[in-house]
Amino acid sequence: MSPNQRRPLVGGNWKMHLLRDDAQRFCGTLLAGGVLPADVVIFPSCTLLQTVADALSDSEVGCGGQDIHPEERGAHTGDVSGSQLVDAGCSWVLCGHSERRQDHGESDDLIRQKALSALRYGLTPLICVGETHSERQAGRTFETLERQLRAALTEGPATFTLAYEPIWAIGTGETATPEIAQEAHAFLRGLLAEMLGDIAADAKRILYGGSVNPQNAADLISKPDLDGFLVGGASLDPEKFLAIIRSCGSDS
Ligand code: PGA
Repeated sequence: MSPNQRRPLVGGNWKMHLLRDDAQRFCGTLLAGGVLPADVVIFPSCTLLQTVADALSDSEVGCGGQDIHPEERGAHTGDVSGSQLVDAGCSWVLCGHSERRQDHGESDDLIRQKALSALRYGLTPLICVGETHSERQAGRTFETLERQLRAALTEGPATFTLAYEPIWAIGTGETATPEIAQEAHAFLRGLLAEMLGDIAADAKRILYGGSVNPQNAADLISKPDLDGFLVGGASLDPEKFLAIIRSCGSDS
């Protein structure tokens, strides 16, 4: 159970997985799960956005894109704009996921522009930050997090949600311990307090991502600065995803 006053948020990052039939079935199972103790948002591939948004349209569960181009339209083959995401039924978008930073060379500045673009279309950016294994080994975790956060927020979006995703924990099965995650979340909240003030920082949800599963979720969410999860692999199975969501509630 989350020990703070912020309502937990759980995102399912499907990455480049699932087909339309899988997505339909997933949404059916998720909605049959009844009242959930957290806000929930699904981030499917572009080809599945419409299917997922339609399936979830009568529910409280949100739908979001995995990426956004800073411009509204133009000659940008393979990209998707904020207006297209809204048109497909999205209300959220991931900005700066480490796989985009690594696979597509996204810079801190580009991520800020993407988050600003999201806001122009009324999408909430979920900004992802996190250190590599070698940065952690070298004692540079906080320096990396601070650089990424300041770059995203200086003259950046006023409305956003934050996810701490240590790269060494993503898809590896090596979850951060609750203590390691809490230390990073507390550091990020301290930075937010410096940049936005104590009240805004206290209200901000900071999600943890990196090999979250039904077995480790309850211990992680018991930490005071963890406000939910961004789930990759375990979000592909609706039963596992529901179990993670339920771990955020008082009856877990
Ligand atoms: P994982 O992915 O849960 O499979 O580690 C998390 C993420 O990349 O958002």
